[in-house]
Formats: sequence, structure tokens, C-alpha cells
Amino acid sequence: MTQPSAVGGLASSVAGHEVTVDLGLRSYAVAVGSGILTSVGPRLQGLGFQGRCAIVTNDRVAPLYGPAVLASLRSAGLDPIVIEIPDGEAQKNLTMLSTIYDRLLAAGLDRSSVIIALGGGVVGDLAGFAAATYLRGIAFVQLPTTLLAQVDAAIGGKTGVNHPRGKNLLGAFHQPRFVLADVETCATLPRREFLAGMAEVVKYGVIRDAALFHDIATHSDAILAQDRDRLVAVVAACVRHKAAVVASDEYERSGARAVLNFGHTVGHGVEALTDYTRYLHGEAVAIGMVAAARVSQALGACGADVVASIDGLLRRLGLPTELPVPRAALVAAMTSDKKSTSGRIRFVAVETIGRTRLVDLSATEIVDHL
Ligand SMILES: NC(=O)c1ccc[n+]([C@@H]2O[C@H](COP(=O)([O-])OP(=O)(O)OC[C@H]3O[C@@H](n4cnc5c(N)ncnc54)[C@H](O)[C@@H]3O)[C@@H](O)[C@H]2O)c1
Ligand SMILES: [Zn+2]
Repeated sequence: MTQPSAVGGLASSVAGHEVTVDLGLRSYAVAVGSGILTSVGPRLQGLGFQGRCAIVTNDRVAPLYGPAVLASLRSAGLDPIVIEIPDGEAQKNLTMLSTIYDRLLAAGLDRSSVIIALGGGVVGDLAGFAAATYLRGIAFVQLPTTLLAQVDAAIGGKTGVNHPRGKNLLGAFHQPRFVLADVETCATLPRREFLAGMAEVVKYGVIRDAALFHDIATHSDAILAQDRDRLVAVVAACVRHKAAVVASDEYERSGARAVLNFGHTVGHGVEALTDYTRYLHGEAVAIGMVAAARVSQALGACGADVVASIDGLLRRLGLPTELPVPRAALVAAMTSDKKSTSGRIRFVAVETIGRTRLVDLSATEIVDHL
């Protein structure tokens, strides 16, 4: 058993958690636990789904978890087809979306059917957008199998595909009917993918939860060893934060959701400048978070101690923190990010671990403070 901690941190057991994303009629549950993947069939049955449904997955995840999910769905009286796409971010495009529509139509899915996304953020975004648009929108559920998708991508209803001119430029807000995050799936994740997910976990600590941040630091060895109790507690804490932020700003209009972009302004710039091949997203975010902390310090928002503790924790987790690209190149890369409005960037500055403030800055100002 883990010790309870004061603020949302690691107070839980492996038994699992259920978090509600509170969005009125679009509210849904996020179940977090270990070994819960096979509850998907009964859960769908409980929501009234029956008959034809579609699992969207990829060729890495399908052999690992496809049979268990198929069996669970069949045992609950559902009749699934499996749409298996090739692995990789490159598949998150309109051509693959069209292929998915073809399969859904051929299998006769109708307005009462449900799509089950089984995989990481790529599968979730693609399957979610297919669900948002097929027959003007049908139900979907998320079975995220990467740490990053469990703590971030699967929750909040952002779905979409990439365009040659930029990532995630085409999409829709479409909330899932429920999310089932089984941390046991992390056991088969490549180490690098797991660590990249940890960068987003640290982000929640920095922006909203000092107790979580310190718990991760204290128990980093257990977390890196994927101790089940710890991992369930950590993922559940992150899910609670994502759920709260999404509930307060579903469509990213009020500014509340912007806090989730901590570390992402510079992170996206680093990803773009390295052709999206050198770093995983979470790795670039780790670099971006330390950069954001440095900018915050230069602005007088936080002290050097905050920069040092973020940098120290990320390093302990095996994540990169040094800026690998020339500062000058970053200016252009950050200006073309779709989240910048008329040259001003809504920059998330850290004040202390657990608290942030938004500052409007130009890309040049950000780089000058690095
Ligand atoms: N919708 C959102 O709010 C949101 C938020 C963040 C990121 N995203 C999107 O998510 C995507 C990144 O997600 P990701 O990091 O999960 O990447 P991913 O989906 O590409 O998964 C990473 C790799 O792990 C493999 N994999 C997945 N689960 C596995 C498992 N259990 N065992 C072994 N291998 C497994 C995948 O096949 C892939 O090779 C990006 O496209 C990004 O734009 C969306
Ligand atoms: Zn991110």
C-alpha cells in the first residue's frame, strides 16, 4: 500500500479509480487500474451498446491486446470488426481516415454503433475523428495503451489528423463515452515511450500538484520500475487534473486549458526543428519545460530553485533537458505554431511547483529570456 499524500498525489491502491470528466450531458468516466482492459465488454453493454462495433488499432498493439479486447466484447454480446492500421504517426492522415470510413461502411456500422480505439494517441486521435464525423458522429471509447495517451491524449475530446502543412490541423472536439486506462499495458511499451509519457506526468505536477511532483521525485525508482500501485496512483492523479482542466474549458476558449501547454511552446519548436524524428513528443516537452522554467525565472515569476528541481527530476527520469537547437531558429519555429495568435504567444510561466500564470510574449521575447 502507498501512503496517502496531501494534494491529489499518490493516495491510492491498485484496486483502481474512477474519475468523472464533468461535461453535463457529455460527461464520462475514466477508469484507471491494473488488469482492467477486459472489462470493456461489460462496460459497453452497461451503456446499452450491442451488435456491430469496430475496434481501431494498429499492427503493434493488435497482437498484444487485441485478443483480450475481442473476447471481452464478444462475451458481452457485441459483434466487433477489427480495423488494423500500420503503426506510426505518419498514418494519422486523411487517406487513412478514408480507409477507416470504407471499413465502417462495409461492415454496416450505424448511428447506434460504437468505435473502440485501442492504442496510443495516434490511434485515439484517428479513431476519435472517424467517430466524430462518420454518419455525422457516432459514439467512441478510448482504451489508451501508452502512458502518454492514458494521462493526456485519451481524455478531453480532441480528435484529428495531420495535414502536410502541420500536425493536428484537421479535427473536431468529440468526447468519448468512457476511457479505460489499464496501466498493465505500459509493461510492453518501449522504455523510451514510457519515459516520454513521464514528461507529461511531471507537467501535471508542475502546473497543478506540488504533492504529485514531490511524490514522483521521492518514489522515482518505484515508478521507473513500473510498480503497479504507484503507476495506478500516478496515472489517476494526472487523469483527475486533465479532467478538471477539460471540464472548465472544454473547447479551449476561456484560457483554462492553455495551462496544459506548459513546456509545449518551446517543445513544439524543438520537434519541428528536428523534423519530428529526433525526439519523441514527451522528450521535446521535457526540454521545453526546463526552457519555460528558465524564461519564468528571467521574468521574475519564479526562483532558480524551481528551475533546478524541474531540471533535476526530468534528468532523474532519463529525459533530455538541454536545448539542442540554435535559439535563433526557435523564433521562426514557435511563430508558426497554430497556438500563437497574431504574433503573441500565450506562454505558461511557472511561479512555484504547482502554480502557473499566463503571460503574453512574442517568440523573440521568449528566446531572449532563455
Ligand atoms: N488528443 C489529444 O488531446 C492529444 C494529446 C497529446 C497527444 N496527442 C497525439 O497523440 C499522439 C502521440 O501519442 P503516443 O505517444 O501514444 O504515440 P503512439 O500512438 O504513436 O504510440 C507510441 C508507440 O507505442 C506503440 N504502442 C502503443 N501502445 C503500446 C503498448 N502497450 N505496448 C507496446 N507498444 C505500444 C505504438 O504502436 C507506437 O509505436 C500524437 O499524434 C499526438 O498528436 C493527442
Ligand atoms: Zn504534450
